[in-house]
Amino acid sequence: MLLNLTALPGDGVGPEVTDEAVRVLETIADVFGHQLSVTRKPIGGAALISAKDPLPADTLQSCLASGAVLLGAVGGPSFDNFPSHLRPESGLLRLRRELGVFANLRPALCFAALEDCSPLRAEVVRGTDVLIVRELLGGIYFGEPRSTQGIPGNRVAIDTMRYGEAEIERIARVAFELARSRRRKVTSVDKANVLDCSRLWREVVTQVGHQYSDVKLGHMYVDSAAMALVARPVDFDVVLTENMFGDILSDQAGAVVGSLGMLGSASIGGAVGLYEPVHGSAPDIAGQGIANPLGAILSAAMLLRYSFKLETEAACVESAVAAVLASGSRTKDLGRSIWGPPIRWCSPKAGAL
Ligand code: IPM
Ligand code: MG
Repeated sequence: MLLNLTALPGDGVGPEVTDEAVRVLETIADVFGHQLSVTRKPIGGAALISAKDPLPADTLQSCLASGAVLLGAVGGPSFDNFPSHLRPESGLLRLRRELGVFANLRPALCFAALEDCSPLRAEVVRGTDVLIVRELLGGIYFGEPRSTQGIPGNRVAIDTMRYGEAEIERIARVAFELARSRRRKVTSVDKANVLDCSRLWREVVTQVGHQYSDVKLGHMYVDSAAMALVARPVDFDVVLTENMFGDILSDQAGAVVGSLGMLGSASIGGAVGLYEPVHGSAPDIAGQGIANPLGAILSAAMLLRYSFKLETEAACVESAVAAVLASGSRTKDLGRSIWGPPIRWCSPKAGAL
């Protein structure tokens, strides 16, 4: 099979973790007899510097002409004061919208070898296997109007949270379908005690749920869900939630399972799938060869699974990740309690995937 990808390394640690993920895909292609073609294009801050646009037309065109897109990370402190349409993040948001990827899947799995890496006790995180299904093209990220108006000292800023029934229904279906291949439990997270958007969300999710009577549906307010995610993470199977709550809860889930550096993601449902680690550009550690590449590598596994339907190859990458961790290799973010066995620190390049 031809695996024709566009790689968007982006900013900060993006390029180094993307390189490692591409190396893994090269190995998979060799072993399983596929042909891998990777076109690298700029996005985010890198594209602002080279093309004065966080999503140049040429980058978008290449993505739309690919079988899948692998992205590193965007953003960095040097762009913090840029106007919002010229921030690196706006390039990523536009890309998500242009690709039409409304369903963002963020699995948070506690690998057996990492039970002691969580800030929570091992017995609390043991067996955690959560899939966050985050709506990616709606809510406060994209709602209009949005503006900052007035004179300094007296300005007012507005963002708009907006959801339509069709948008809620399509993401709910994704969550219920995925739950059928897992433990058949969906927890829908909202703030229905305060927000109209959330009341509509709860109503539509409940309606869709009636068509999936084999899946158990529960609802939680986001504050309570945040608490339960650290108190009893094993209770969650599929977490279905809107754009901003999903952004927040997925970082939290990263910490629960040991490190945000471990989380990969798939954004699907549109013309071309987009795969990116959940961690950001981590400018403080960029270029030092110490960034955890596993989030990017696990994103590459999801790319094989969802865009190319190569389940065996995807599972092979995931079991290689588990094996490397079981062998004791660690990047620095996976600090372990002083009572654990000795750690073999390694730079990602020395990893044996
Ligand atoms: C994420 C990131 C992005 C988001 C940023 C970089 C725009 O935090 O993918 O979680 O908020 O969606
Ligand atoms: Mg985020």
